[in-house]
This record gives sequence, structure tokens and C-alpha cells, in this order.
Amino acid sequence: MSKQATLNIGDKEYTLKILTGSEDEHALDISILRKESNFITYDDGYGNTGSCESDITFIDGDKGVLRYRGFDIAELAEKSNFLETCFLLFNGELPNSSELDNFKTKVFSHSTLPSPVEKVIHSMSGNSHPMGVLSSALQALGGCFPHLCTNTRPADIDSFQEAASLIVASIPSIAASTYRSSKGENMPEIGNVFSYCENFLHLMFGSASAEPIDSSISKALDLIFLLHADHEQNCSTSTCRMIASGGANAFASLSGAVSALWGPLHGGANMAVIRMLNEIHSAGDDGSQFIQSAKEGKSRLMGFGHRVYRNYDPRAKILKSACDQALEALGVESPILDIARNLETSALQDEYFIARKLYPNVDFYSGIILQAMGFPTNMFTVLFALGRAPGWLAHWKEIATNGKRIHRPRQIYQGSTHRPYVGLGDR
Ligand code: CMC
Repeated sequence: MSKQATLNIGDKEYTLKILTGSEDEHALDISILRKESNFITYDDGYGNTGSCESDITFIDGDKGVLRYRGFDIAELAEKSNFLETCFLLFNGELPNSSELDNFKTKVFSHSTLPSPVEKVIHSMSGNSHPMGVLSSALQALGGCFPHLCTNTRPADIDSFQEAASLIVASIPSIAASTYRSSKGENMPEIGNVFSYCENFLHLMFGSASAEPIDSSISKALDLIFLLHADHEQNCSTSTCRMIASGGANAFASLSGAVSALWGPLHGGANMAVIRMLNEIHSAGDDGSQFIQSAKEGKSRLMGFGHRVYRNYDPRAKILKSACDQALEALGVESPILDIARNLETSALQDEYFIARKLYPNVDFYSGIILQAMGFPTNMFTVLFALGRAPGWLAHWKEIATNGKRIHRPRQIYQGSTHRPYVGLGDR
């Protein structure tokens, strides 16, 4: 493969460098193009744009491959756990046992929320969506630790490990406090004997007497978090990197990423899937009428399709079997699971979905498991954020350490050309 490409515009020729990634992906480096030719490139929605070089996560969307730091997602799902995966994403390598113990100790030491963060959560209106609360609470959390968010580098990079473990520890507590506050309840004490996910389940649903948590449930939750932990340059991660490129600290960058994740085409899809399945169920449809309306463009089959995967999302495959196991462990019958299975089978055989390479994505089954565990629908995207936080943090660290310039795309202006101002009386 040549190391350069030639671009002809009119009678001028430009030489562009070709970048090759470690998995043999190729990109034209157009960074000199505007300076030399006065042309920019146009790529609506960035579907063809590499915004950075990164060594965190690899996706091959055509083959359905996802790897964190080189490790296949299916192998991590089978052998690792969420906190170990956090360490891997932050540091690039799996921890040895003392590194893992130290990391866990650090995370557990931060599980109790500072009271100003509790106050922010309680002061927000009962109608505030938990994603809005989470975004605000992360800013409030930074405010309680000003030495970890100075907006100066290298100071913020030097305190990354402290900030990252504080954030990983605090998001479950923020989520549980938001939920308890919406029900007018107090949080129970944090239990020392619990694992990360057991502790979260205890804070959400447990009582003061700290009854044991069913390990199959906490393991299923841990798996959901691990599967969501990173997904390279998606909408929220790109937002996090964009904010970080301006020099902002990790708390501010994650607060923005939470807002980006909220939308129904991104992290909000797990809520939208359940809404869709419930609507299909109450309409007495087995899914076939809904498939028809999706094909006619009247609705969207939520939990299907992905910008990058043109094959089965590998996370959805793992979650599908976890879903069966979790429902069995919980002893829950789910009529909407049958509808989901019908929708999947019909869509995978339908020419509309086949031609567009639309397969189930991570959100298709995760909502069903979360609902069976007792999480209210409006908390689902918060759980996605909890799982994605280590990915955002790893990307924050990468750009804070290696980023050279503020991110600032260009545009093709299509508005009015220059015109004179018209006074109020003359309009
Ligand atoms: N149901 C029906 N048709 C669809 C769907 C769907 N879920 N997704 C895409 N299409 C059609 C779309 O109408 C278009 O058809 P046509 O070529 O005839 O105009 C074609 O497929 C290409 O779609 P697109 O909107 O250009 O694809 P995109 O890459 O811009 O969007 C997506 C990707 C995920 C936003 C989209 O597939 C979608 O809206 N899916 C449902 C929402 C969802 O499940 N989101 C979660 C994504 S996974 C979690 C995450 O990483 O955030």
C-alpha cells in the first residue's frame, strides 16, 4: 500500500499522506488541504471522518468485532468484570492482583456522596430527568474536589487516577440517590461487604438491614456495565473529547457526555425500546404490524441499526443469552420478551432490514433485563452512563495527554449573503 494519495482539483494536484492503523485501516490525512488548496472536506454526520488516532477500542463493524485495548469483548465478558475493565481502559493493561485491590479500595473509599452533591440532587425538581440530574451532579462533584478539576494541565492529568476512581464510585450513588429522592426515601448505609454492583443494587433497592443480594442478578448487571464500557468515537465520547480538547477537566467533560448520551438515537434508545415493546403489547400486535410501519418509515424499530455495525452487534449477542438467564434467575415472565424475539426473527428475515444491514444493537435486550431487575425505565440511560463512564474517562485521559489542538470543525455556510440592517420601524 502506497504511503500517499493524489487529489486533483482543477489543474492542481495535492499529495495527501495515508495513515494506516494497527488493524490495517486506512485514512487520507487531509490536515494540509485547506491551507494548500482553500478546500475543506464535507461529511455530514462524520460517517467518514476519523477525528483522532486512538489506542483504546477497536471496532470492525462489518465483521461485528469489538475489542477494548486488544481484548475481545466476548472474552472480557466471560472472564473479566466491570472494575477490572475500568482499570484496563484507564491504564492500557490488565491489573495484577495488588493493582486491582488498590483500585477497588480507592473506588470503595469514595462511595459516600459529599453532602453538596446530595443537596444538588434533592434540589432538582421531581420532574427532572435522572440524566439531567446526573449531568448536574457530576459538575457538583467536581466542585467538591477543586484540586481534581483545575482546568490546567498537567495538574488534571496528574490527578486523573484519583478523579477517575471518584467518578466511577460516585455515579452509582448519584443514580441511587436520585431514585430514592424521587420516591421520598433515604439511602441505606453503604455496605462494606458488597461488590460494586451488589452495593449499587443495595443502594437502589435494599433496606437498612443489608439483606444479601442474589449474585446472579449482580453479575448480570456487572456484565451490562462491562459491555457498555467503551465504544470508540460515538456521539457522547466525541462530545467528551471535544470538551476536553478545549482544556476542560474530566468532571465537566463527562457532564457534557451525559447530556449527549441522553438522546433517543444514542443512549436513550434503551428506554425507547421498552416504550416501543409496551406499545406493541398494548395494541395486541405480535410485532408484525410494527415491522410494517417501520418499513414504511412511519416508525423506527428501536434497538435496531447502528452507524458502525453492519452486522450483529457483538454486545447484543452476549446480552441476548444473559437476558434469558437473568429472567430465569428472577423468575420473571416477560410478555415483551416474546415480542422482542418475534421482532428480531421477523426483521432478520425481512428484505428491508437485510438490505440496510440493520441488526439488533446493545439496547435491544438490555432494557428488558433492567426492567426485570426492577429499574424504572427513566433510569435506564443513567445505567448506560454508569457503564460508559470508564470509556469517557479513558478518552479524556488520551486527549488530555496526547491532544495537540482544540477540536474545531469547519462548515459550508448556506445562509444569507451580506445585507444591510433594517431598523425596527421599517420591517
Ligand atoms: N428502523 C427502521 N429503519 C431504520 C432503522 C431502524 N431502527 N435504522 C436505520 N433505518 C433505515 C433508515 O431509515 C435508512 O433507510 P433509507 O436508506 O431507506 O433512508 C437506513 O436504514 C440507514 O439509516 P440511517 O439513519 O442513515 O443510519 P445512521 O447510521 O445514521 O443511524 C442509528 C444509526 C443507530 C441512529 C439508527 O439505526 C437508529 O435510529 N436506530 C434506532 C435507535 C437505536 O437503537 N439507537 C441505539 C444505537 S446503539 C447504542 C449507541 O451506541 O448509542
